[in-house]
Amino acid sequence: MEDICIYSGEAVAGRIVFGHGLPGVGQALAHCTGSGKTLPVYLVYDTGVSGFVPVLETVLSGTAGVKLCGKYGMPVSEDSKTMSSVLGLAGWLLGCGADRNALVLAVGGGITTDMAGFAASIYKRGVRFAYVPTTLLAQVDAAIGGKTGVNFESYKNMLGIIRQPEFTYLCPEVLETLPERDFMSGAAELVKSFLIEDGGWYGKSVAFLSDYRHAADKKAFLNTCRGTLLELIRAAAAVKASIVSVDQFETGERRKLNLGHTFAHAIEKNARMRGDDITHGEAVSIGIVMAAELSARLGLASQDFVSSLNADFKAAGLPSECPYPVEELAEAMSRDKKSEDGIIHFVLLSAPGAVMIHDMPASAASAMLDPDNLS
Ligand code: GLY
Repeated sequence: MEDICIYSGEAVAGRIVFGHGLPGVGQALAHCTGSGKTLPVYLVYDTGVSGFVPVLETVLSGTAGVKLCGKYGMPVSEDSKTMSSVLGLAGWLLGCGADRNALVLAVGGGITTDMAGFAASIYKRGVRFAYVPTTLLAQVDAAIGGKTGVNFESYKNMLGIIRQPEFTYLCPEVLETLPERDFMSGAAELVKSFLIEDGGWYGKSVAFLSDYRHAADKKAFLNTCRGTLLELIRAAAAVKASIVSVDQFETGERRKLNLGHTFAHAIEKNARMRGDDITHGEAVSIGIVMAAELSARLGLASQDFVSSLNADFKAAGLPSECPYPVEELAEAMSRDKKSEDGIIHFVLLSAPGAVMIHDMPASAASAMLDPDNLS
C-alpha cells in the first residue's frame, strides 16, 4: 500500500506508512537512515502496550543501520499528560546520552504520541521522532498532522507545538486487542473524516462498524477483516493528510477537523465535573449529531439529513444523545480554547462530504438547540 505524504509547502514534512504487523516498522525506520551513520533509536512506550515491545526489539535488531539505544515505558493517562512527564522523558534521553541524531520512536495511543512528540521537539531544540499508534483514534487522528503537547492548568493540550513525525506507521493488527469501547472511540473519528470528505467511504465505514457491532467475537472479526480495516484507515489518514498539507497551523481549512469537537469538549468538561465516564470518541459522536442539528436549525441542512445521520450512527453503534441539557454546555463552549472573542468557529454539515465553518457565539448556538426554543 502506497505511503501518504504530509507536505509543508512543496516539501515533504512527514510520511504515513501502511503495513501488516509490526515488522513493517523496520522498513519505515530504514528510510530514516542515511549518510552511512547508524540511526540511534529511543523507544518510548505506554506500559499498557508493553506486549508489543519484544516484537519491536526483534524488528529493530534485525534492521540494518538502526540501533536501539534505550527503552522507556510510561504509564499513560489523561492525568499524566503533563509537563512533568515530558521533563521525565527528556531527562531519560539526556541520561542515555541521546544526541541530535536521535530518533524517538513512540508506541501507544494519542497521549503517548503527543507527549513523546513534544519531548522530542524540545529536546536539544528538536530531534526526530516517529509514531507507531496502537489505538484506532491515534491511527486516524491523533498521530497524524503534527499536533503534540500536554495538558496544563486543567486545559487540555494547552502547551505544545506542531511538528511532523518522520513517519506514522499504521497497521490494523495492533487494534485486534483493543477493548471494544476504545475501538468505538476511534470509530467516531474515522466516520468524522468521511463526513468531512466522503469519496464513498462514509457508507463503507458505517457498514463496517455495523458488522463490527454485530460480531460476537470482535477480535476474530478484526482479524478476518484486516484488509478492509486497513483501507478505511488509509482513506481516513488521506483525508487528514490532505487538509494538514494545506493548513498545517490551523488558520482555516484545518478547522474542519474539529467537526463535532466544540460540543464534544463541552460534554467532556461536564462529564469530568460530574465524575461521569465518557470517552473522547463518544463525545465527538454526540457532538457531530449536535452539529448536524444546529446546521438544520440554521437552515443549512435538511431535517432528513439529520434523521439519516442519526439512523447511520445508531446502526454503527455510535452514540448520538447528549446526556446534558444544552444550556449547561454553553458556558464550557464559550471557554473553548479555540473561541476567539467569544466567537466559535462551528463546523457544520449538510451531507457527507459537505462541511462548512460558521462563526457564531456559543450562547446563540445553544439557544438554537434548546428544545424550549423550538418553533
Ligand atoms: N485533531 C484535529 C487536528 O489534528 O487538527
